[in-house]
Amino acid sequence: MNLEMLKFETNGSIATVTIAREKSLNALNSQVISELGLVFDQINSDTEIRSVILTGEGEKAFVAGADIKEMKDHGADEALAMSKLGQNVFSKIEKCRKPVIAAVNGFALGGGFELALACDFILASENAKFGLPEVSLGLIPGYGGTQRLARNIGAQKAKRLIFSGEMLDANTAYQWGIVTEVLPPEELIAKANKLATKISRQAPLAIQNAKDSVSIGYDKTLDAGLEFESTLFSKVFTTDDKNEGVTAFIEKRKPDFKGQ
Ligand code: CAA
Repeated sequence: MNLEMLKFETNGSIATVTIAREKSLNALNSQVISELGLVFDQINSDTEIRSVILTGEGEKAFVAGADIKEMKDHGADEALAMSKLGQNVFSKIEKCRKPVIAAVNGFALGGGFELALACDFILASENAKFGLPEVSLGLIPGYGGTQRLARNIGAQKAKRLIFSGEMLDANTAYQWGIVTEVLPPEELIAKANKLATKISRQAPLAIQNAKDSVSIGYDKTLDAGLEFESTLFSKVFTTDDKNEGVTAFIEKRKPDFKGQ
């Protein structure tokens, strides 16, 4: 895979994807979006990879949004195509078969915040800033921000943030429930790796089904969600990993999960 805008590294079962356009604060141009799509296809098909960390290069930004310069001459048709492409790639990340941790190391604005929201959860460094400033450019969020943020923190807080274009600092984002923890910048990636390692030790099919149960179940009514959970609960009982996990517990040893 020939990547120019991303770094893609694997260390054992953990893949790290770094958006690497530091001079443009890792802004998402069309090439970054396409490369993200390619990398997540690869991650989905690689059975060695069990968890993913997504971050931005440098100390200043995770991603400062969609590339504003690229949008300058866009009309309605180009904007529609751009939004659809970004939404498709972000949905691929959201539906990735492996958990994806966003390690937000600075500005996460516009498309950058939307990208973090497509991940399973967000760790933030103390200097992180979150916002959807699109209205200050005469735009609206187009990579899922109006939908995922409202589902994440409720419509009222989402509107407050989107209409004002304001940025939240990391601690406020924590208080609002957007991020699960705030870390000193130098500890961010280490903590993401620690969590990724922990996740990688669990049964992969259990993780995948748990992810589906939360993510897909979230948009259902409670009754339909409970039904869905039961179906997946029953499905994991057909896996070798369930037998291994339960047997290992009874035999007082560590399980050796194969993802089967
Ligand atoms: N697109 C393109 N280039 C960007 C960019 C973006 N979103 N954000 C920053 N850059 C570039 C700047 O143009 C600058 O490049 P040059 O040196 O070549 O001029 C470089 O990155 C450094 O940026 P600044 O000099 O502006 O750095 P700063 O520290 O003064 O400010 C900032 C940092 C507050 C993040 C500011 O860069 C900023 O406001 N960026 C834009 C944020 C934004 O509006 N994002 C939303 C984009 S629209 C969107 O995302 C639509 C969607 O939903 C799909």
